[in-house]
Amino acid sequence: MRLFQTLSGLSVLAGTVLAHEGQHHDHDHHRHHDAPSHDSLAHAEICGGSGGSIIPGSDGLCGHGIAGAGEAQKVIVSDAESQKPPPQDDGPRYPLWTHTKPCFNSTKSELEICVFADEKFANGRGASFVMTERRAAHVAKAPAFKDPELVKHTNQDIHRTAPAKYDMKEIPGKGMGLIAKQHIRRGDLIMANTVSLMIDYRAFEELPKEHYTQLQAAAVDYLPEAHREAILALSTHDDTDRTYIQRVDKIAATNAFDIEPDEDDEVQDYGFYVVFPEIARMNHDCRPNADYYYDHETLTQYIHAVRDVFPGEELTLSYINPIMKRKARVRKLQRIWGFECACPLCTQEQPRVEASDLRIRQIKELSNELDDWEPQSRANPAMAELMISLYEQEKLWGSLHEAYVSAALEYNAAGEPWTAIKYARLAVERGMQVVGPKDADVLEMAKMAEDPWAHWSWMKRIKVRGGWGKRSKETEDDE
Ligand SMILES: *[C@@H]1O[C@H](CO)[C@@H](O)[C@H](O)[C@H]1NC(C)=O
Repeated sequence: MRLFQTLSGLSVLAGTVLAHEGQHHDHDHHRHHDAPSHDSLAHAEICGGSGGSIIPGSDGLCGHGIAGAGEAQKVIVSDAESQKPPPQDDGPRYPLWTHTKPCFNSTKSELEICVFADEKFANGRGASFVMTERRAAHVAKAPAFKDPELVKHTNQDIHRTAPAKYDMKEIPGKGMGLIAKQHIRRGDLIMANTVSLMIDYRAFEELPKEHYTQLQAAAVDYLPEAHREAILALSTHDDTDRTYIQRVDKIAATNAFDIEPDEDDEVQDYGFYVVFPEIARMNHDCRPNADYYYDHETLTQYIHAVRDVFPGEELTLSYINPIMKRKARVRKLQRIWGFECACPLCTQEQPRVEASDLRIRQIKELSNELDDWEPQSRANPAMAELMISLYEQEKLWGSLHEAYVSAALEYNAAGEPWTAIKYARLAVERGMQVVGPKDADVLEMAKMAEDPWAHWSWMKRIKVRGGWGKRSKETEDDE
């Protein structure tokens, strides 16, 4: 089932932010308030020096026009020292990072955490990473670094080649938000953005706040100007006066998404804390009309409509797991983002709140039963049908594929392959929009739709309950 990415949902971070709020930073040396000298100051203080680069030969290229893959290649080749063969074609383009400083050593372990920035990423949009050298090298293996074509049509807000489906407008009581300009059909792509600022969660554990906030600020500084300004314009949900470093920290804390590591990442216990400034403009709704998924190969967060959206409607995402009771929902939104939940779901009259909470409770109970594959489980197709209905009643359009997965499994486990195929197809169709085409559930359902008889769930409930025993080898060969 889906791992929920939540917007900066980790309380550990929220706790750290509060604990250190208001401290003075001696190293607060690049405030944007002295804007004109900003670039040179940042480069002189942060970018200079040698060492720390993960790409041999990239030192000294810091911040000076390496204009893209082709030209970068030329720089290396024309260098007298580099008569070595050019980098392998299956690696990322070289040199990759335009900045690899500053760095801080952990106070708790051997880890050294640095800023790695690539000003040229995604056709000049730029991207900054706060992580260890090893992890940066892992992230840099993503095909998006090697092949800018992969992300050519993303990031439409900065380099628009297709008309926007929305306008950014002031929404009463919510600050800025995005309003649909046209009819957007269920499943349509609304926007897609590559990472702007991607932070290894370990940075918050390994480094004192004074250090990780400097890394965040430097990472934002290294982004090209329009991109940097888009981040600095984001909401901090309050107007307290802050230093530049504090402001960047607060913006990140208010606007970041949690991204799980990809399965090849050697660090599985810590994900990433990622800011996408355009996507961050979408406000929260408990029953949103859009949903998001992240793709590691393109370093892109995709936003699709999960139901038809009419012109004039606000485009929304859920910042939290939508399958939560009202009280938990209100508390969480208040604690992490500091706003009063104003969704219809939170503000509707009491009998409707209770009815919704009861549906949520039943969804959780059914889900436990359906996930249980032991002989004592009472799970059956009718239970999965009820689950689908509850999701529909709750308008959980972004999670409906999960109920379809359950239904496909239950019908197949009951020996009803054609209904299993129907629900497997529905799970794929819905899942592609909200968890993406590479999601494990989506891939598995696609396989089941092709051949339900070969799926592990085939006749599973009947076998364990009815004692039909194992199907003989001969029967399988007959098919
Ligand atoms: C971190 O520690 C390593 C090994 O002791 C050292 O080489 C490196 O310079 C240190 N980095 C910083 C930023 O102090």
